[in-house]
Amino acid sequence: MRKVAVIGGGHTKFVTESSKTILELLAEASMDAILNSNIGPKDIQAINCGNVLGEFTDGQGMIQSYLANDIGCDNVPANRFEGACATGTIAVRDAAMWIASGAYDIMLVCGVEKATAMGTPLATRTFAMFSDSRYENPAGFTFPAIFAMLSHLYADRYNIPLEKLKEQMALVSVQSHYYGAKNPNAQFQKELTIEKVLNGPMVTTPLQLMDCCPFTDGAAAVVLASEEIAKKLTDKPVYIVGTGQASSGHLASQYKYLPRLRAREVSVKQAYKMAGIGPEDVDICELHDCFSIASIIAAESLGFAEYGTAGQLWENEETKIGGKIPINISGGLKSKGHPIGATGVSQVYEVTRQLRGEMVDQGRQVEGAKIGLIDTLGGDGIIVNLVLKRD
Ligand code: COA
Repeated sequence: MRKVAVIGGGHTKFVTESSKTILELLAEASMDAILNSNIGPKDIQAINCGNVLGEFTDGQGMIQSYLANDIGCDNVPANRFEGACATGTIAVRDAAMWIASGAYDIMLVCGVEKATAMGTPLATRTFAMFSDSRYENPAGFTFPAIFAMLSHLYADRYNIPLEKLKEQMALVSVQSHYYGAKNPNAQFQKELTIEKVLNGPMVTTPLQLMDCCPFTDGAAAVVLASEEIAKKLTDKPVYIVGTGQASSGHLASQYKYLPRLRAREVSVKQAYKMAGIGPEDVDICELHDCFSIASIIAAESLGFAEYGTAGQLWENEETKIGGKIPINISGGLKSKGHPIGATGVSQVYEVTRQLRGEMVDQGRQVEGAKIGLIDTLGGDGIIVNLVLKRD
C-alpha cells in the first residue's frame, strides 16, 4: 500500500441560512482546495463527495456529477457518500484507500450540507432518519433525545451526581466557544460562560441549548495525493497513517454497552494499530461533540481518560492548548457548526492545518503538533477514525 497525503484544503464559512445552494457551497470549497494544492481541476482523477440530505434541502440528488462539471473536472468518476454525520470522514477514508491501492494519484474529497434551510422541525425529523426507523425513531429518539438518555446513563453508570456532570458538560461547551470565537470559519464566534450554559433554555432534559450543536450550512474539501505526487506539490504534506471504521447497529442492540459506543473502541483500535501509535502519542484531536456529553464519552473511548473521568479533563483544562490532549481547537461541532455531510472533511482540513503550523495567526496553534486524531460518529452506530501525521 502506498502512503497517502493531504496536500491542500478549502472551507466555506459555516453559517445559519446560507443564500447559496449546496452545489455553490461545494464548488467554492472544492476550488479553494484545488488551488491551495497547487494543481488545477484537470489534475483531479476522481471525486468523493459527502452529502446527506440534498434531496430535502435543495431538491438535489446526485450532486457529485454536477460538481465535477461545474468545477471543470470533466468526465471523472464522482461518487456520493452517505453515513449520516460521519459522511465526510467515510469519503476521506475511502479516497485514501483508492490512492493507497495505486488506482488513482490525486483525488478531491468534499462534503456539504445546508440543514438550516429545512427549519428545526423538518431538520430534526430528517436527522432522526439516521436512527432505527421501525422502533426507535417513532418512539421519540431524535438525536437530542438520544444524547439526553446517554447523559442520564453516564451519570448513573459512573455514579456522578447529574448536577456535577452538567457542570462538566457546560465546561465542554465553554471551551468550544472559546476556540470557536477565534475561528473565522465558525458559525458561532462568541464566547460563553458556565452561567449562560446552565441558564439556557431546556431542549430535552438534561440537555440545554448550549449543550447542543446547531444546524449548519457549509462545505469543506481536501485534496489527497500519493506520497510521490505530494512531495512534488508541497513541502508540508500531512500523511493519513491510520484509519479505522466500525458499525454498531441500532441503540437497542447496544443496551449492555451504552453509554459507551462499542464501534468507537473497535474503530480507534484499528486506527492506532495501523499508525503504530497509542492515545499518549496524539498531539491534537478533533472529536465528534454533537452534544457536550458526547465529548466526554468520546474522550474515554479514544483512550484519553479512564471511563467515568473524562469530565475532569475539561475541569483541569487538559483539553486546551498546552494541556495533556488539546481537543476541538476549531470550536468543534458545537461552535464551528455541524453541516453533517461536510463535518468529517472539515475535521481533516482543521487537523491538517494544525499539523502544518498554520493556525498561529488565528491564535489557536497547538505548537509542535505532529500527530492528529479525527473521530466522527454517524447516527448512533458508525464511527470513523483517522490518524494524520506530518514528517
Ligand atoms: N447553540 C447555540 N445557539 C444556538 C443553537 C446551538 N446549538 N441552536 C440555535 N441557536 C441560536 C440561534 O442562532 C438563535 O439565535 P438568535 O435568536 O440570536 O438568532 C436561537 O438560538 C434560536 O435558534 P433556533 O434555530 O430557533 O433554535 P431551535 O430551538 O429551533 O433549535 C436546537 C435549537 C438545539 C433544538 C437545534 O439546534 C438542534 O436540534 N441541534 C442539534 C442538531 C443535531 O441533532 N445534529 C446531529 C447531531 S448527531
